[in-house]
Amino acid sequence: MAYRAVFRCIAGCSGEHPVWDPIYRCPSCGDLLEVAHDVESLKDRSAAAWMRLFDERYKRTTWPYGSSVWGKKEWVCPDVRNDSVVSMDEGGTNLFWAERFGRELGMDDLWVKLCGNSHTGSFKDLGMTVLVSVVRQIMDEGGDIRAVACASTGDTSASLAAYAAAGGIPAIVLLPRGKVSTAQLLQPIANGALVLALDTDFDGCMAIVQRLSQDEGIYLANSMNSLRLEGQKTVAIEIVQQLDWTVPDVVVIPGGNLGNVSALGAGFDMMSDLGLIDRQPQIVVAQAEAANPLYLAYGRDWEFEPVGAKPTQASAIQIGNPVSVRKAIRTLRRHRGIVEQASEAELAEAAARADRTGMYNCPHTGVALAALIKLRERGRIDAGARVVVVSTASGLKFTDFKLGYHERRLPDVPATWANVPVELPNDYDAVRRAIDEHSAGRESAP
Ligand SMILES: Cc1ncc(COP(=O)(O)O)c(C=O)c1O
Ligand SMILES: [Zn+2]
Repeated sequence: MAYRAVFRCIAGCSGEHPVWDPIYRCPSCGDLLEVAHDVESLKDRSAAAWMRLFDERYKRTTWPYGSSVWGKKEWVCPDVRNDSVVSMDEGGTNLFWAERFGRELGMDDLWVKLCGNSHTGSFKDLGMTVLVSVVRQIMDEGGDIRAVACASTGDTSASLAAYAAAGGIPAIVLLPRGKVSTAQLLQPIANGALVLALDTDFDGCMAIVQRLSQDEGIYLANSMNSLRLEGQKTVAIEIVQQLDWTVPDVVVIPGGNLGNVSALGAGFDMMSDLGLIDRQPQIVVAQAEAANPLYLAYGRDWEFEPVGAKPTQASAIQIGNPVSVRKAIRTLRRHRGIVEQASEAELAEAAARADRTGMYNCPHTGVALAALIKLRERGRIDAGARVVVVSTASGLKFTDFKLGYHERRLPDVPATWANVPVELPNDYDAVRRAIDEHSAGRESAP
């Protein structure tokens, strides 16, 4: 059976467009596009047969199916030839039972999905492998693409630069100057992209890259290109797969440009359409208070207005005019959606508190954890609920944030869990004394 996927307008305009066309908006109404699959043809396999196939491929070496994105290729982008795929083994990231942190919140079934344990250290690899593979196939077939380009708050540019380099495709990245972490800035530099640091914010970079992509030959790699979301939706399938094909009660995810939450919802919807699951999780989007347009819309029955995003430690979600907002609202309406926000103090304290139970959280995961804490305190998430928090990037990319916290340099953050090295002379007794004082301090701590 031949499987098919095409672009369609999310507002319902008639017509479909090949996924090989460099179009990012509906030519009739200008709204976003989405990838639509021929679900009827996918029903040629039973739900049990799909689950078996995905399990057989999971983390094995047969190209390209060992990647957890390409292991679900028929559901993602069936027309990509295996020799066009640019993959560095995406997905298959750890989903762990956060036993101790959960217990602190009075929960016994809290899980963390570490999407940041990936090739470039964020969930963006899940989608970028799909987009860059499509680009490579277009170029192999003589299509006129000079370069792939994106605006980024850091992680998208890191992922684009890596996958473009692996595929031998020129990459251009537009970053807001001074607003991404040093590690994130270095990633596209190392991978040889043209790095343009602009005196604006993410929304300003996004406006410019959208204009660039109207030129012949510059292909847009932001998540408004729905090929990215097709790869990102596999996170929902992977979570369910890792939970032995059961659905969690609640999924908490940080939101900026709001592509990832739409992708998450699409993954659950597709599993439901094909009979792999018979219920849907509740989805919670967590936003930084400094960049909270979706949170504000949630309080106004989803009436959306862009905001000017203020600086936040959660720099990757410092976005005031999210491109995928309409898709996100649609997803949240279908999934009993909740939007919660976290102040700078709340996100930094939540990240550090969870670090004390063995995690190493990026600030965006801090936003998600802070939202979870607040919703638990208000009883909106039950003690017994199975909750999965999606951790979107590796804490290792956010050294400035973590050092600033422990050195108590973050504005408006009390840094309750600050922990600094004790500097000592080369002296045995001084070391003994420091250990004794530390133990005494721990015993008298509340
Ligand atoms: C680490 C991290 N977390 C969360 C997000 C938010 O994802 P989205 O923009 O799809 O809402 C991003 C990207 O923007 C990110 O890089
Ligand atoms: Zn349309």
